[in-house]
Amino acid sequence: MPELKQLHVGRAPAVLAFELANRAYFAASVSDRGDDFFAQFTDRYNALLAEQEAGICAFYVLVAEDSSVLGRFNLVDIEDQSAELGYRVAQHVAGCGVATATVRDVCQLAAAQHGLRTLRAATARRNVASQKVLTNAGFVLVGPADPAHIGGKPGTWYQRGLVLQPYSAI
Ligand SMILES: CC(C)(COP(=O)(O)OP(=O)(O)OC[C@H]1O[C@@H](n2cnc3c(N)ncnc32)[C@H](O)[C@@H]1OP(=O)(O)O)[C@@H](O)C(=O)NCCC(=O)NCCS
Repeated sequence: MPELKQLHVGRAPAVLAFELANRAYFAASVSDRGDDFFAQFTDRYNALLAEQEAGICAFYVLVAEDSSVLGRFNLVDIEDQSAELGYRVAQHVAGCGVATATVRDVCQLAAAQHGLRTLRAATARRNVASQKVLTNAGFVLVGPADPAHIGGKPGTWYQRGLVLQPYSAI
C-alpha cells in the first residue's frame, strides 16, 4: 500500500525520476519546471531539505511499494499555523482518487505533525481536476488568485480549516 513519507536525502533519485517521467503531463496543467530545474536538481533538492529543516516547509511524497514516487504533496510558507498546499500526482495513476485521498491525509498530518490550523491552495480556473481534489477534501473557494502566483493564468484560492482528530475512545 502506498505510504506518505517526508522528503529526505535518500529519496532524491526517485523524486527526479517522478519529475522526469511526468514532466510533459504536469506541464499541461501547471508551469513547466524548466530545464534548469533538472540540470540543477541536486542543488535544488538540497535547498528544499534545508527549508524543511528550518521549519518553513514540509515536503511529502507518496511512495509505492516498489519505492517509486506516485505523488508529491508540499506544505510551503508555514507561518502563523497556516501554510499553502501544493501537489502533483503521476500520470499512470491519474483519475484513481490518489490526489483526493492523499490531500485528505495531508490535512490530518498538517494538523497533527505541524500544528497547522489552516491550509490554502491556489489553482488555475481551467484545472478542473485540481479544483475537484480540493472541494472533495473539504476546501472552499475564498476568492481570486493573482495570476502571477499560478503561472500567469486566472485562478482561485481555496482554503480549509483543520482540526486535530481526537483518538476515538475504546
Ligand atoms: C490535479 C491532479 C493532482 C489530480 O490528481 P488525481 O489523482 O488524478 O485526482 P483524483 O483521481 O483524486 O481526481 C479528483 C477528481 O478530478 C477528476 N479528474 C481527474 N482528472 C481529470 C481531468 N483531466 N479532467 C477533469 N477531471 C479530472 C476525477 O474524476 C475526480 O472527480 P470526482 O471527484 O468527480 O470523482 C493531477 O492531475 C496532477 O498532478 N496534475 C498536474 C499538477 C497539478 O495540476 N497540480 C495541482 C496544482 S493546483
